[in-house]
Amino acid sequence: MKEQTKVNVPIWMEKTPTKAIVEYNLEASEFGWEIAPGKIIQAWGFNGQLPGPTLKANVGDTMVIRVTNHLKEPTMVHWHGLRIPAVMDGTEVVQKPIEPGEVFEYRFVVPDAGTFWYHSHVNETEQMEKGMYGALIVEDQTDPVMDGEKIIVIDDMKLSAENEFTKPGWFAPRIIERHDGRQGDTLLINGQENSILDIHAGQTERWRVINASSARYFVLHLDGREFKIIGTDGGLIEHPQLVTEVLITPGERVDIAVGPFNEGETFPLESLAYNRSTFLKAKRETFATVKVGEQKHSVVFIPETLRQIEPLAKQDAAITRKVKLSVGPSLKDGMSFLVNNDVHVHDKPVLTGELQVWELANTSLMDHPFHLHGQFFQVIEEDGKAPAYMAWKDTVNLTPRSKMKIAWMPDDRKGMWMYHCHIIEHHAAGMMAHFEVK
Ligand code: C2O
Ligand code: CU
Repeated sequence: MKEQTKVNVPIWMEKTPTKAIVEYNLEASEFGWEIAPGKIIQAWGFNGQLPGPTLKANVGDTMVIRVTNHLKEPTMVHWHGLRIPAVMDGTEVVQKPIEPGEVFEYRFVVPDAGTFWYHSHVNETEQMEKGMYGALIVEDQTDPVMDGEKIIVIDDMKLSAENEFTKPGWFAPRIIERHDGRQGDTLLINGQENSILDIHAGQTERWRVINASSARYFVLHLDGREFKIIGTDGGLIEHPQLVTEVLITPGERVDIAVGPFNEGETFPLESLAYNRSTFLKAKRETFATVKVGEQKHSVVFIPETLRQIEPLAKQDAAITRKVKLSVGPSLKDGMSFLVNNDVHVHDKPVLTGELQVWELANTSLMDHPFHLHGQFFQVIEEDGKAPAYMAWKDTVNLTPRSKMKIAWMPDDRKGMWMYHCHIIEHHAAGMMAHFEVK
């Protein structure tokens, strides 16, 4: 207890808000969407585009987003990663679904800069698969100066030869989809197959990468070229990390600095194979092509220290809660996806201002991306070791038979929250829990 009271309220609460009001209308509907020349799918999405419009604000702004539902079924929008009041979180425990023909107005202050996203939180296995998602970007004056910026939303779709959404069919496909999550062969960047990403030679851009797919483990690779990780789910990390690949699991975001490249270079943006013990064989796949155009002057400035992140807890901090993710047999569906040995769990409440140190244990033989709604946490230990670097996260991958310790501080946003596996089919099958912040 004594140790806990020493923990300060995170510094992000102290930023001066700019206090503008930013308004958007999102119209949910079904529409034809061309993913490649002549290849039209019946998508579900926002404002007739896939992904939905990118929503932008500055730290401290109030966003007012009116969602109108023109679909034939209820929907709701969840603001993935935003630390907003519980009643605005867009889940079934905090609001009534928006019925066909209804409008719901979401209104909240955005307290943190970073790459966030929004997506449907009703019948997700269908609504998200069909395209009900988009990016939400919050900017701040402390962002590094870049030559340009791209938002890269990753998805894949499982379509029939007629470009229709295949329903999970009979026994075998259904079991596979439940086990693996739904992964398809139609590879999309910003709603397009085989897209071209243009960048000027000599320049360095910030690419905000969002994995909006149901189940794909995306290992971003630029044909071996080095790039720098500068941000994760909860905004900038402390120091840029030079890498040649980075894993982005469903729900996660990674901001990278790419370039400079030489004029005339062309190379693929691919995902390397990631073996997550699925029925489907893991393979290396190309999602888009990067084309380097004429040389341009650069103004980029990426400081060695992007910001300071104070640790919430030491690696050996006492565990306050255990969350076990496991997979068990089920008579009805062949397999059940469990949190602490149960499905669709109601977990114990947590108290405002009481440091949470959770042990996440994955006892299954497959990976699960764990997502906590409305809060940022820090990974303080991963299989007995400190993490490679400090970051604020809201989604993190748990490898098979692994344990992780995360720390987070419930602030005074009281109400119902949830955590779940972000492989949408696992979430739907029960690997989720609600809990209250009191
Ligand atoms: Cu993006 Cu309930 O999650
Ligand atoms: Cu899972």
